Amino acid sequence: MNLTLRIWRQNGPTDKGAIHEYQVKGISEESSFLEMLDVLNEELFARGEEPIAFDSDCREGICGQCGIVINGIAHGPEVTTTCQLHMRSFKDGDVITIEPWRASGFPVIKDLVVNRSALDRIIQAGGYISVNTGAAPDAHATPVPKQDADRAFEAAACIGCGACVAACPNASAMLFTSAKVTHLGLLPQGKPENYRRVVAMLNQMDEEGFGSCSNIGECAAVCPKQIPLDVIANLNRQLGKAAFKGI
Ligand code: SF4
Ligand code: FES
Repeated sequence: MNLTLRIWRQNGPTDKGAIHEYQVKGISEESSFLEMLDVLNEELFARGEEPIAFDSDCREGICGQCGIVINGIAHGPEVTTTCQLHMRSFKDGDVITIEPWRASGFPVIKDLVVNRSALDRIIQAGGYISVNTGAAPDAHATPVPKQDADRAFEAAACIGCGACVAACPNASAMLFTSAKVTHLGLLPQGKPENYRRVVAMLNQMDEEGFGSCSNIGECAAVCPKQIPLDVIANLNRQLGKAAFKGI
């Protein structure tokens, strides 16, 4: 495949940045999107030009490090991570526009790399269990209803990629925050700190400059782990109960 790539280049956080156009030739349909960018970077390097900065680590859809807006969609045309997107999703001759996550909570570091440490600080505010749970009990000693276990497991699949923020017109981190709250709050070990956790994580989300949820649902539509939108309803219910308890 021969492609035209329109890529956001930005030399640093204070640089204005602009779209630059590149041609790539002979790209295999079987290669991944990031391998296609690797090919371009090798060519740029050989010409003595600065390669394009982008994030990746596992390249297996696990770590949440990769994340690019492709033709206006977070992670591109398939519901998967950018590293798991393959070039067979595109056609020969396509023009592909590639941009970083756009959100005030995710400042651009360089080109397609953004600083997502705001999500780490939301976790630090309460996305953990600090009560003493004692030694590991026998697996059957603390019964967890199957429905709760399944739902906690579903929410625990969030990899913190930030696509939900990038897709949301309000740049809200509600899907991410709600996934963590739902995962921990449904399990016996996480229940004692549930209400304090909800309030602390939401306060931190606001402090980081993320917007509020207005139920548009773009977040769930692009989430590579298919975290359902109703985790946000669960967070709102827990927040109401926390207010009732005066937390
Ligand atoms: S909720 Fe989905 S889109 Fe948002 S950070 Fe988690 S995995 Fe990524
Ligand atoms: S590089 Fe790890 S999820 Fe994409």
